[in-house]
Amino acid sequence: MRDLATELRDLAMGLARDAGELAERLRDEVDLVGDTKSSATDVVTAADKASEKLIIDGVLAARPDDGVLGEEGGDVDGTSGVRWLIDPIDGTTNYVYNVPAYCVSIAAELDGDVVAGVVYEPKAETMFDAVRGGGARRDGEPISVSPLTTLELALVSTGFGYRAERRAAQGEVLTQLLPEIRDIRRFGSAALDLCNVAQGSADAYYERGLNRWDFAAGWLICSEAGGVVGDLHGGPPSETFLLAANPSLFGLLGDRLRQLGADQTP
Ligand code: IPD
Ligand code: CA
Repeated sequence: MRDLATELRDLAMGLARDAGELAERLRDEVDLVGDTKSSATDVVTAADKASEKLIIDGVLAARPDDGVLGEEGGDVDGTSGVRWLIDPIDGTTNYVYNVPAYCVSIAAELDGDVVAGVVYEPKAETMFDAVRGGGARRDGEPISVSPLTTLELALVSTGFGYRAERRAAQGEVLTQLLPEIRDIRRFGSAALDLCNVAQGSADAYYERGLNRWDFAAGWLICSEAGGVVGDLHGGPPSETFLLAANPSLFGLLGDRLRQLGADQTP
């Protein structure tokens, strides 16, 4: 399995770098923020679609029997047992505003388990990657989660859904949590949030309502860096809820988030 996972990881790294460079070129061609909203949306959609197409074409050229699921609608049933999960630009709002924190996220599942994951940040030209059982790396160097075990000192990142009703409820949870931790960050890219926990530049991350393509690669990278990634009830992360932290903080913050009903908001 490790050989196959490594092969999938290597393929993903090349495609993520190419897709990131393409997104950068497309971004530089237009002033997205200064543009009117509708045309800005069109341009972003075009960049998302172009990035996803580059990745899917590359995957299927190399491995024609694999399945694919992409944020922009790419959906191919495969027969090999391998399925690719693609977020062609994670952190779209940052992309629009030219805030550097956006990335390309690619994961490969084998029979439903994520075995390889890659997150590429084009502005920083930084590549995070992991193969199941092989540790996590940033630009080829091993990374690990922070050793912090005190909730009061924890730097916690989070994100908010797109619906107003959910955002209001998420704000209520945050209002209660904020006085009990060091501080909060909202970086705007779930995949990078997970990589930040993986490299110890945040102590924990939680979010409700992610899609599998947002978190699949970062989940593996964070787990391989020594983190725990799951829901609030002993299960794997899901569309309902994801919490990532080192094992001690996962327990402490998970208990508090459960008390606050963080996974019950509308
Ligand atoms: C979003 C980002 C954001 C998170 C949202 C995601 P997108 O993905 O990861 O940080 O809070 O839940 O949908 O739309 O930028 O690909
Ligand atoms: Ca995303």
